[in-house]
Amino acid sequence: MSEAVAFLTALAQALSALALYPTGHASRERAIDGAYQHLLDLLARDASPEFSFLEDEVVYGARPLRELRDWDWNKRLSDVGIQRLQFDATTTRPELEDFLDETMARLTLKAIDTAEARQMRPSGIRFGVLGIRGADELQTDEITTASLSYSLRDEAETIRWLHREVTEKNELPLVEAETVVRSLAVAMHGDEQMLMPLLKLRHYDEYTTTHSLNVSVLTMALAEWLGLGDRDVRAFGIAGLLHDLGKVRIPYEVLHKTGTFTDDDRRVMSRHPAEGANIIITSATDLDLAAVVAYEHHIMINGGGYPSYRFKRKTHRASRLVHVCDVYDALRSDRPYRDAWPPGKVLAYIEERSGHEFEGEAAHAFTRMMREWEPQVTEVEEDEPLPQS
Ligand SMILES: [Fe+2]
Ligand SMILES: [Fe+2]
Repeated sequence: MSEAVAFLTALAQALSALALYPTGHASRERAIDGAYQHLLDLLARDASPEFSFLEDEVVYGARPLRELRDWDWNKRLSDVGIQRLQFDATTTRPELEDFLDETMARLTLKAIDTAEARQMRPSGIRFGVLGIRGADELQTDEITTASLSYSLRDEAETIRWLHREVTEKNELPLVEAETVVRSLAVAMHGDEQMLMPLLKLRHYDEYTTTHSLNVSVLTMALAEWLGLGDRDVRAFGIAGLLHDLGKVRIPYEVLHKTGTFTDDDRRVMSRHPAEGANIIITSATDLDLAAVVAYEHHIMINGGGYPSYRFKRKTHRASRLVHVCDVYDALRSDRPYRDAWPPGKVLAYIEERSGHEFEGEAAHAFTRMMREWEPQVTEVEEDEPLPQS
Protein backbone atom coordinates (compact mmCIF):
# COMPACT_ATOMS: atom_id res chain seq x y z
CA MET A 1 0.00 0.00 0.00
CA SER A 2 2.67 2.48 1.01
CA GLU A 3 4.57 1.92 -2.27
CA ALA A 4 1.38 2.81 -4.16
CA VAL A 5 0.94 6.03 -2.18
CA ALA A 6 4.62 6.92 -2.54
CA PHE A 7 4.48 6.32 -6.29
CA LEU A 8 1.38 8.46 -6.85
CA THR A 9 2.87 11.23 -4.74
CA ALA A 10 6.07 11.12 -6.83
CA LEU A 11 3.96 11.04 -10.01
CA ALA A 12 2.22 14.25 -8.95
CA GLN A 13 5.58 15.85 -8.14
CA ALA A 14 6.83 14.92 -11.59
CA LEU A 15 3.72 16.49 -13.19
CA SER A 16 4.33 19.67 -11.23
CA ALA A 17 7.96 19.68 -12.39
CA LEU A 18 6.83 19.21 -16.01
CA ALA A 19 4.66 22.29 -15.70
CA LEU A 20 7.58 24.35 -14.38
CA TYR A 21 10.65 23.20 -16.30
CA PRO A 22 11.35 22.61 -20.00
CA THR A 23 12.49 19.27 -21.44
CA GLY A 24 16.03 18.40 -20.41
CA HIS A 25 16.04 20.63 -17.31
CA ALA A 26 17.78 18.88 -14.40
CA SER A 27 14.87 19.37 -11.98
CA ARG A 28 12.45 17.90 -14.46
CA GLU A 29 14.66 14.88 -15.14
CA ARG A 30 15.16 14.36 -11.40
CA ALA A 31 11.43 14.41 -10.77
CA ILE A 32 10.81 11.85 -13.54
CA ASP A 33 13.66 9.67 -12.20
CA GLY A 34 12.05 9.85 -8.76
CA ALA A 35 8.64 8.81 -10.08
CA TYR A 36 10.19 5.98 -12.09
CA GLN A 37 12.14 4.71 -9.09
CA HIS A 38 8.94 4.62 -7.04
CA LEU A 39 7.20 2.81 -9.89
CA LEU A 40 9.95 0.16 -9.87
CA ASP A 41 9.53 -0.23 -6.10
CA LEU A 42 5.82 -0.70 -6.61
CA LEU A 43 6.31 -3.14 -9.51
CA ALA A 44 8.62 -5.22 -7.32
CA ARG A 45 5.61 -5.93 -5.08
CA ASP A 46 2.83 -5.84 -7.62
CA ALA A 47 3.55 -6.78 -11.24
CA SER A 48 0.46 -5.08 -12.66
CA PRO A 49 -0.63 -2.23 -10.43
CA GLU A 50 -3.87 -0.52 -11.29
CA PHE A 51 -5.39 2.71 -10.02
CA SER A 52 -8.88 4.22 -10.33
CA PHE A 53 -9.38 7.94 -9.77
CA LEU A 54 -12.92 8.65 -8.68
CA GLU A 55 -13.59 12.27 -7.82
CA ASP A 56 -12.39 12.29 -4.23
CA GLU A 57 -11.07 8.80 -3.80
CA VAL A 58 -8.13 6.92 -5.23
CA VAL A 59 -8.52 3.19 -5.44
CA TYR A 60 -5.49 0.92 -5.76
CA GLY A 61 -6.68 -2.44 -7.13
CA ALA A 62 -9.83 -2.78 -5.05
CA ARG A 63 -8.55 -0.88 -2.01
CA PRO A 64 -9.22 2.80 -1.42
CA LEU A 65 -6.08 4.72 -0.47
CA ARG A 66 -7.20 6.60 2.63
CA GLU A 67 -3.94 8.59 2.69
CA LEU A 68 -4.92 10.18 -0.62
CA ARG A 69 -8.49 11.09 0.26
CA ASP A 70 -8.06 14.83 -0.24
CA TRP A 71 -5.44 14.52 -2.93
CA ASP A 72 -5.94 17.32 -5.50
CA TRP A 73 -4.56 15.26 -8.35
CA ASN A 74 -7.34 12.75 -8.12
CA LYS A 75 -9.99 15.05 -9.53
CA ARG A 76 -7.52 16.67 -11.89
CA LEU A 77 -6.64 13.33 -13.50
CA SER A 78 -10.22 12.13 -13.54
CA ASP A 79 -11.35 15.38 -15.19
CA VAL A 80 -8.99 14.91 -18.10
CA GLY A 81 -10.13 11.38 -18.82
CA ILE A 82 -7.58 9.50 -16.74
CA GLN A 83 -9.78 7.55 -14.40
CA ARG A 84 -8.03 4.26 -14.68
CA LEU A 85 -4.29 3.78 -14.90
CA GLN A 86 -2.48 0.47 -15.24
CA PHE A 87 1.19 -0.41 -15.49
CA ASP A 88 2.88 -3.51 -16.86
CA ALA A 89 5.91 -5.00 -15.14
CA THR A 90 7.96 -4.04 -18.20
CA THR A 91 7.15 -0.31 -18.13
CA THR A 92 10.23 1.72 -19.08
CA ARG A 93 11.27 5.21 -18.06
CA PRO A 94 10.62 6.65 -21.58
CA GLU A 95 7.12 5.19 -21.41
CA LEU A 96 6.53 6.87 -18.09
CA GLU A 97 7.83 10.15 -19.52
CA ASP A 98 5.51 9.83 -22.54
CA PHE A 99 2.62 9.26 -20.21
CA LEU A 100 3.55 12.30 -18.12
CA ASP A 101 3.80 14.44 -21.27
CA GLU A 102 0.41 13.25 -22.45
CA THR A 103 -1.14 13.95 -19.07
CA MET A 104 0.41 17.40 -18.98
CA ALA A 105 -0.94 18.13 -22.47
CA ARG A 106 -4.40 17.15 -21.34
CA LEU A 107 -4.16 19.26 -18.20
CA THR A 108 -3.02 22.36 -19.99
CA LEU A 109 -5.05 22.21 -23.19
CA LYS A 110 -8.67 23.19 -22.91
CA ALA A 111 -10.24 20.63 -25.18
CA ILE A 112 -8.79 17.59 -26.82
CA ASP A 113 -10.73 14.61 -27.78
CA THR A 114 -9.67 11.79 -25.51
CA ALA A 115 -9.98 9.18 -28.24
CA GLU A 116 -7.47 11.02 -30.43
CA ALA A 117 -5.22 11.98 -27.61
CA ARG A 118 -4.90 8.35 -26.64
CA GLN A 119 -2.95 7.57 -29.82
CA MET A 120 0.32 7.10 -27.98
CA ARG A 121 3.17 4.81 -28.81
CA PRO A 122 2.64 1.22 -27.65
CA SER A 123 3.43 1.27 -23.99
CA GLY A 124 3.35 -0.69 -20.77
CA ILE A 125 1.03 2.00 -19.44
CA ARG A 126 -2.67 1.95 -20.17
CA PHE A 127 -5.07 4.61 -19.09
CA GLY A 128 -8.42 6.11 -19.93
CA VAL A 129 -11.88 6.71 -18.66
CA LEU A 130 -13.41 4.20 -16.32
CA GLY A 131 -14.10 1.25 -18.57
CA ILE A 132 -14.47 -2.42 -18.72
CA ARG A 133 -11.49 -4.60 -17.99
CA GLY A 134 -10.83 -7.55 -20.23
CA ALA A 135 -12.82 -8.70 -23.18
CA ASP A 136 -16.51 -8.15 -23.14
CA GLU A 137 -17.34 -11.10 -25.29
CA LEU A 138 -21.00 -11.80 -25.70
CA GLN A 139 -22.02 -15.07 -24.19
CA THR A 140 -25.37 -16.56 -23.83
CA ASP A 141 -26.73 -19.12 -21.53
CA GLU A 142 -30.14 -20.36 -20.72
CA ILE A 143 -32.46 -18.54 -18.40
CA THR A 144 -34.52 -21.00 -16.49
CA THR A 145 -38.14 -20.43 -17.23
CA ALA A 146 -40.85 -21.29 -14.80
CA SER A 147 -44.52 -20.65 -14.49
CA LEU A 148 -44.71 -20.31 -10.76
CA SER A 149 -46.61 -17.57 -9.07
CA TYR A 150 -44.28 -14.70 -8.22
CA SER A 151 -44.52 -11.56 -6.21
CA LEU A 152 -41.60 -9.18 -5.86
CA ARG A 153 -41.67 -9.17 -2.07
CA ASP A 154 -38.48 -11.20 -1.61
CA GLU A 155 -36.60 -9.10 -4.13
CA ALA A 156 -37.68 -5.86 -2.46
CA GLU A 157 -36.71 -7.21 0.97
CA THR A 158 -33.32 -8.29 -0.33
CA ILE A 159 -32.68 -4.85 -1.78
CA ARG A 160 -33.60 -3.13 1.50
CA TRP A 161 -31.25 -5.51 3.33
CA LEU A 162 -28.54 -4.94 0.71
CA HIS A 163 -28.75 -1.15 1.14
CA ARG A 164 -28.47 -1.58 4.92
CA GLU A 165 -25.43 -3.84 4.51
CA VAL A 166 -23.72 -1.32 2.24
CA THR A 167 -24.50 1.50 4.69
CA GLU A 168 -23.22 -0.42 7.71
CA LYS A 169 -20.34 -2.44 6.30
CA ASN A 170 -19.46 -0.42 3.25
CA GLU A 171 -19.41 -3.57 1.19
CA LEU A 172 -21.72 -4.78 -1.49
CA PRO A 173 -23.15 -8.30 -1.05
CA LEU A 174 -22.60 -9.32 -4.63
CA VAL A 175 -24.15 -12.77 -4.54
CA GLU A 176 -27.44 -11.36 -3.29
CA ALA A 177 -27.48 -8.63 -5.94
CA GLU A 178 -26.95 -11.27 -8.60
CA THR A 179 -29.65 -13.45 -7.10
CA VAL A 180 -32.18 -10.62 -7.24
CA VAL A 181 -31.42 -9.97 -10.90
CA ARG A 182 -31.60 -13.65 -11.78
CA SER A 183 -34.92 -13.88 -10.02
CA LEU A 184 -36.27 -10.76 -11.78
CA ALA A 185 -35.18 -12.30 -15.08
CA VAL A 186 -37.07 -15.47 -14.23
CA ALA A 187 -40.17 -13.51 -13.18
CA MET A 188 -40.04 -11.66 -16.49
CA HIS A 189 -40.12 -14.96 -18.34
CA GLY A 190 -42.75 -16.66 -16.22
CA ASP A 191 -44.53 -17.95 -19.30
CA GLU A 192 -44.09 -17.72 -23.06
CA GLN A 193 -44.80 -14.03 -23.11
CA MET A 194 -42.37 -11.62 -21.60
CA LEU A 195 -43.59 -9.65 -18.63
CA MET A 196 -42.39 -6.30 -17.32
CA PRO A 197 -43.38 -6.11 -13.66
CA LEU A 198 -42.95 -2.58 -12.31
CA LEU A 199 -43.40 -1.97 -8.61
CA LYS A 200 -45.77 0.67 -7.30
CA LEU A 201 -44.24 2.96 -4.75
CA ARG A 202 -45.77 2.44 -1.29
CA HIS A 203 -44.00 5.17 0.68
CA TYR A 204 -41.82 8.01 -0.45
CA ASP A 205 -38.90 6.76 1.57
CA GLU A 206 -38.97 3.43 -0.23
CA TYR A 207 -38.30 5.09 -3.54
CA THR A 208 -34.71 3.88 -3.86
CA THR A 209 -35.71 0.22 -3.38
CA THR A 210 -38.66 0.34 -5.77
CA HIS A 211 -36.74 2.41 -8.27
CA SER A 212 -33.69 0.09 -8.27
CA LEU A 213 -35.85 -2.94 -9.03
CA ASN A 214 -37.82 -1.11 -11.71
CA VAL A 215 -34.73 0.24 -13.45
CA SER A 216 -33.26 -3.26 -13.40
CA VAL A 217 -36.41 -4.72 -15.00
CA LEU A 218 -36.64 -1.95 -17.61
CA THR A 219 -32.95 -2.19 -18.48
CA MET A 220 -33.14 -5.95 -18.91
CA ALA A 221 -36.23 -5.64 -21.07
CA LEU A 222 -34.53 -3.02 -23.22
CA ALA A 223 -31.33 -5.07 -23.53
CA GLU A 224 -33.42 -8.06 -24.54
CA TRP A 225 -35.41 -5.96 -26.98
CA LEU A 226 -32.12 -4.88 -28.56
CA GLY A 227 -31.17 -8.54 -29.00
CA LEU A 228 -28.45 -8.93 -26.37
CA GLY A 229 -27.72 -12.41 -25.04
CA ASP A 230 -28.96 -13.57 -21.66
CA ARG A 231 -25.66 -13.10 -19.87
CA ASP A 232 -25.37 -9.51 -21.06
CA VAL A 233 -29.00 -8.87 -20.26
CA ARG A 234 -28.30 -9.89 -16.68
CA ALA A 235 -25.08 -7.84 -16.49
CA PHE A 236 -27.08 -4.81 -17.66
CA GLY A 237 -29.76 -5.75 -15.10
CA ILE A 238 -27.20 -5.69 -12.28
CA ALA A 239 -25.96 -2.33 -13.51
CA GLY A 240 -29.56 -1.05 -13.49
CA LEU A 241 -30.15 -2.46 -10.02
CA LEU A 242 -27.04 -0.80 -8.59
CA HIS A 243 -27.05 2.48 -10.54
CA ASP A 244 -28.14 4.57 -7.54
CA LEU A 245 -26.22 2.61 -4.91
CA GLY A 246 -24.26 5.75 -4.02
CA LYS A 247 -27.47 7.18 -2.55
CA VAL A 248 -26.86 5.10 0.59
CA ARG A 249 -24.25 7.74 1.40
CA ILE A 250 -26.60 10.71 0.93
CA PRO A 251 -28.04 11.97 4.24
CA TYR A 252 -31.69 10.97 4.73
CA GLU A 253 -32.87 14.60 5.02
CA VAL A 254 -31.47 15.44 1.59
CA LEU A 255 -32.54 12.21 -0.10
CA HIS A 256 -36.14 12.54 1.06
CA LYS A 257 -36.47 16.28 1.05
CA THR A 258 -39.95 17.47 0.10
CA GLY A 259 -39.13 21.14 -0.44
CA THR A 260 -36.98 22.88 -3.04
CA PHE A 261 -33.36 21.78 -3.30
CA THR A 262 -30.70 24.28 -2.32
CA ASP A 263 -27.37 24.46 -4.16
CA ASP A 264 -25.83 22.56 -1.28
CA ASP A 265 -28.43 19.78 -1.52
CA ARG A 266 -27.77 19.53 -5.21
CA ARG A 267 -24.03 19.32 -4.61
CA VAL A 268 -24.54 16.53 -2.09
CA MET A 269 -26.89 14.65 -4.42
CA SER A 270 -24.56 14.97 -7.39
CA ARG A 271 -21.98 12.92 -5.51
CA HIS A 272 -24.01 9.72 -5.71
CA PRO A 273 -22.60 8.55 -9.08
CA ALA A 274 -18.98 8.69 -7.88
CA GLU A 275 -19.93 7.25 -4.47
CA GLY A 276 -21.76 4.36 -6.12
CA ALA A 277 -18.89 3.56 -8.49
CA ASN A 278 -16.58 3.67 -5.55
CA ILE A 279 -18.59 1.22 -3.43
CA ILE A 280 -18.87 -1.18 -6.35
CA ILE A 281 -15.20 -1.03 -7.38
CA THR A 282 -13.98 -1.53 -3.83
CA SER A 283 -16.36 -4.46 -3.24
CA ALA A 284 -15.99 -6.54 -6.35
CA THR A 285 -13.37 -6.71 -9.06
CA ASP A 286 -15.67 -8.17 -11.68
CA LEU A 287 -18.44 -5.59 -11.58
CA ASP A 288 -16.85 -3.03 -13.85
CA LEU A 289 -19.96 -2.57 -15.93
CA ALA A 290 -22.06 -1.73 -12.87
CA ALA A 291 -19.39 0.69 -11.61
CA VAL A 292 -19.25 2.42 -14.99
CA VAL A 293 -23.02 2.75 -15.14
CA ALA A 294 -23.23 4.03 -11.56
CA TYR A 295 -20.67 6.65 -12.53
CA GLU A 296 -22.16 7.66 -15.87
CA HIS A 297 -25.94 7.37 -15.57
CA HIS A 298 -26.52 11.12 -15.17
CA ILE A 299 -24.24 12.19 -18.02
CA MET A 300 -26.22 13.61 -20.93
CA ILE A 301 -24.98 13.24 -24.46
CA ASN A 302 -24.88 17.03 -24.93
CA GLY A 303 -22.33 17.22 -22.12
CA GLY A 304 -24.88 18.23 -19.48
CA GLY A 305 -25.63 16.31 -16.31
CA TYR A 306 -23.00 15.20 -13.83
CA PRO A 307 -20.21 14.40 -13.06
CA SER A 308 -19.12 17.16 -15.47
CA TYR A 309 -16.27 16.80 -17.92
CA ARG A 310 -13.97 19.11 -19.77
CA PHE A 311 -13.67 16.42 -22.40
CA LYS A 312 -16.05 14.98 -24.85
CA ARG A 313 -16.71 11.50 -23.67
CA LYS A 314 -18.82 8.75 -25.00
CA THR A 315 -20.54 6.90 -22.22
CA HIS A 316 -20.93 3.13 -22.21
CA ARG A 317 -23.92 1.74 -24.04
CA ALA A 318 -25.26 0.30 -20.78
CA SER A 319 -25.08 3.76 -19.18
CA ARG A 320 -27.10 5.24 -22.04
CA LEU A 321 -29.77 2.57 -21.69
CA VAL A 322 -29.93 2.88 -17.91
CA HIS A 323 -30.15 6.67 -18.24
CA VAL A 324 -33.39 6.41 -20.24
CA CYS A 325 -34.87 3.71 -17.98
CA ASP A 326 -33.89 5.75 -14.92
CA VAL A 327 -35.65 8.89 -16.10
CA TYR A 328 -38.69 6.90 -17.25
CA ASP A 329 -39.15 5.27 -13.85
CA ALA A 330 -38.50 8.52 -11.96
CA LEU A 331 -41.13 10.44 -13.93
CA ARG A 332 -43.76 7.71 -13.75
CA SER A 333 -43.48 7.57 -9.95
CA ASP A 334 -45.05 9.87 -7.38
CA ARG A 335 -42.41 12.03 -5.77
CA PRO A 336 -42.80 14.30 -2.76
CA TYR A 337 -42.52 17.34 -5.05
CA ARG A 338 -44.67 16.20 -8.00
CA ASP A 339 -47.26 13.63 -8.98
CA ALA A 340 -46.50 10.72 -11.27
CA TRP A 341 -46.74 11.42 -14.99
CA PRO A 342 -48.85 9.18 -17.22
CA PRO A 343 -46.64 6.83 -19.31
CA GLY A 344 -47.53 8.57 -22.61
CA LYS A 345 -46.32 11.90 -21.30
CA VAL A 346 -43.04 10.35 -20.13
CA LEU A 347 -42.44 8.75 -23.53
CA ALA A 348 -43.10 12.07 -25.28
CA TYR A 349 -40.64 13.73 -22.90
CA ILE A 350 -37.95 11.15 -23.76
CA GLU A 351 -38.56 11.54 -27.50
CA GLU A 352 -38.33 15.30 -27.23
CA ARG A 353 -34.95 15.07 -25.55
CA SER A 354 -33.56 12.36 -27.80
CA GLY A 355 -30.25 13.54 -29.26
CA HIS A 356 -29.76 16.13 -26.51
CA GLU A 357 -30.12 14.53 -23.16
CA PHE A 358 -30.62 10.94 -24.27
CA GLU A 359 -28.63 9.16 -26.88
CA GLY A 360 -30.76 8.56 -29.99
CA GLU A 361 -30.50 4.76 -30.15
CA ALA A 362 -31.36 4.36 -26.48
CA ALA A 363 -34.29 6.80 -26.57
CA HIS A 364 -35.70 5.42 -29.80
CA ALA A 365 -35.39 1.79 -28.76
CA PHE A 366 -36.92 2.50 -25.37
CA THR A 367 -39.96 4.38 -26.63
CA ARG A 368 -40.60 1.79 -29.33
CA MET A 369 -40.28 -1.04 -26.88
CA MET A 370 -42.64 0.56 -24.36
CA ARG A 371 -45.28 1.16 -27.03
CA GLU A 372 -44.95 -2.32 -28.47
CA TRP A 373 -44.74 -4.16 -25.17
CA GLU A 374 -47.27 -2.01 -23.35
CA PRO A 375 -49.59 -4.97 -22.71
CA GLN A 376 -46.73 -6.73 -20.91
CA VAL A 377 -46.10 -3.88 -18.47
CA THR A 378 -47.75 -4.73 -15.17
CA GLU A 379 -47.81 -2.44 -12.20
CA VAL A 380 -47.73 -4.52 -9.04
CA GLU A 381 -47.70 -4.00 -5.31
CA GLU A 382 -44.85 -5.65 -3.50
CA ASP A 383 -46.98 -8.50 -2.12
CA GLU A 384 -49.26 -8.91 -5.07
CA PRO A 385 -48.67 -12.04 -7.18
CA LEU A 386 -47.54 -11.33 -10.72
CA PRO A 387 -50.17 -12.17 -13.31
CA GLN A 388 -49.74 -15.29 -15.39
CA SER A 389 -49.55 -14.48 -19.04
FE1 LIG B 1 -29.00 8.47 -10.04
FE1 LIG C 1 -31.95 6.57 -10.55
